[in-house]
Amino acid sequence: MIEVEGLEKTYFAGSVATPVLKGVSFRIDEGEYVAIMGTSGTGKSTLMNILGCLDKPTAGRYLLDGTDVVSLDDDALSGLRNEKIGFVFQQFHLLERATAMRSVMLPLIYADDYPENAEERAEKALAAVGLADRRQYRPNELSGGQQQRVAIARALITDPEIILADEPTGALDRKSGLEIMAIFKKLHRQGRTIILVTHDRALAENAQRIIVLEDGKIATDGAVEKQRDPDLELDTLGAGEDKK
Ligand SMILES: Nc1ncnc2c1ncn2[C@@H]1O[C@H](COP(=O)(O)OP(=O)(O)OP(=O)(O)O)[C@@H](O)[C@H]1O
Ligand SMILES: [Mg+2]
Repeated sequence: MIEVEGLEKTYFAGSVATPVLKGVSFRIDEGEYVAIMGTSGTGKSTLMNILGCLDKPTAGRYLLDGTDVVSLDDDALSGLRNEKIGFVFQQFHLLERATAMRSVMLPLIYADDYPENAEERAEKALAAVGLADRRQYRPNELSGGQQQRVAIARALITDPEIILADEPTGALDRKSGLEIMAIFKKLHRQGRTIILVTHDRALAENAQRIIVLEDGKIATDGAVEKQRDPDLELDTLGAGEDKK
């Protein structure tokens, strides 16, 4: 599904070159759940932007479902992105004045052909993250965890095969963070491919595999021995009252 080889990324500011990714290679199969870890500034977000077709590498290969991403022009790149990828960021990036429904429908509004059942799909996506009763709420009427769930519903509305999440729990408290992790676990069980960037080893252990980046290269890449189950952790926290 995802195959990168010798991926390099160098940022240029005038005559100053900053090499960030220095030859990264891996393969991620369909349906895998992979966590990416590494110290701040090591290139995790840079890598995620490339995997998500938001940016192109300076050198190396990237095959997404057999398509050579590097050779695509910007239009083809954003087409591929809209079709296959759902993004979740640390900052929720919701429009301040938009209701949850409106935020979730936005990717469809930008799509080439606006589907007739857009509202129905948005309702379904919000229900999938436990927010069926918050459809008309605006960001300032929602908790941080709820805002992130709206952002996840927005990422799901196009039914992407791949979910890329860059520190999705970074701005949340522990309980909200675990609720978000439980949602990713569910999405993984449904067969989606998930790539999660996190600084938190315990959260990374929800994944099947952890790739550690160090100074723009892969330091380790290996299977997680025993996956954690955030549902269980949630239950022991006494949460889940809003999981109706
Ligand atoms: N658009 C850009 N232009 C120039 N330099 C950039 C740009 N984006 C990132 N960098 C640089 O690339 C390096 C890696 O940044 P990146 O955001 O990928 O790190 P990260 O691993 O995600 O860190 P964090 O854990 O803090 O989010 C940093 O030194 C950063 O300054
Ligand atoms: Mg980052």
